[in-house]
Amino acid sequence: MTDHTTEEPTRRDFIYIVAGGAAAIGGAMTIWPFIHQMNPAADTLALGSIRKDISSLGVGQEITVMFRGGPVFIRRRTEAEIAEARAVELDRLPDDLARNENLPDDASAADANRVLNPEFLIVKGNCTHLGCVPVGNGAGDYDGWFCPCHGSHYDASARIRRGPAPENLPVPAYIFENEGAVVKLGASSDEVATAGWSVA
Ligand code: FES
Repeated sequence: MTDHTTEEPTRRDFIYIVAGGAAAIGGAMTIWPFIHQMNPAADTLALGSIRKDISSLGVGQEITVMFRGGPVFIRRRTEAEIAEARAVELDRLPDDLARNENLPDDASAADANRVLNPEFLIVKGNCTHLGCVPVGNGAGDYDGWFCPCHGSHYDASARIRRGPAPENLPVPAYIFENEGAVVKLGASSDEVATAGWSVA
């Protein structure tokens, strides 16, 4: 006579194990696409740095490029803009730091600490108040950028001069390549170290 009291639970256990395993595999297959899409795509990784040919940018012209999901302003400044930015006394600046990823954190906001080549000003393009994108091309009361939502004025070195924005527009890590014809945004620390950046 067969002992059903011991055999039946064993068979049920087997069914549960098989069913449970199938459910687990099915569940994993269902959520895999969601997990997979959280990994950075190859093209996103490639955007760790970008190169922009600026050789056709005329004096007094400005372009905006998208880098790591945000705007970056590249302005080829006029001689007058450079002179104006350099003439500002530092004690008149609300933010006295360079905010330059290529220099030490305590570098001053002197215009020379904001640029690698005085002719080209390159800054991230989100207002340091709430992140809006300021209007450029000499806008505002200080001939730089103006953020109209709450009235922040930046000068020709993209330093905050008036309004609620607490900091200067930050300078991203960059170097020039091809004798200055190309700017590489997202340059490595090794590249920055040999690019000629120095504290004024
Ligand atoms: Fe620029 Fe408010 S976000 S002034």
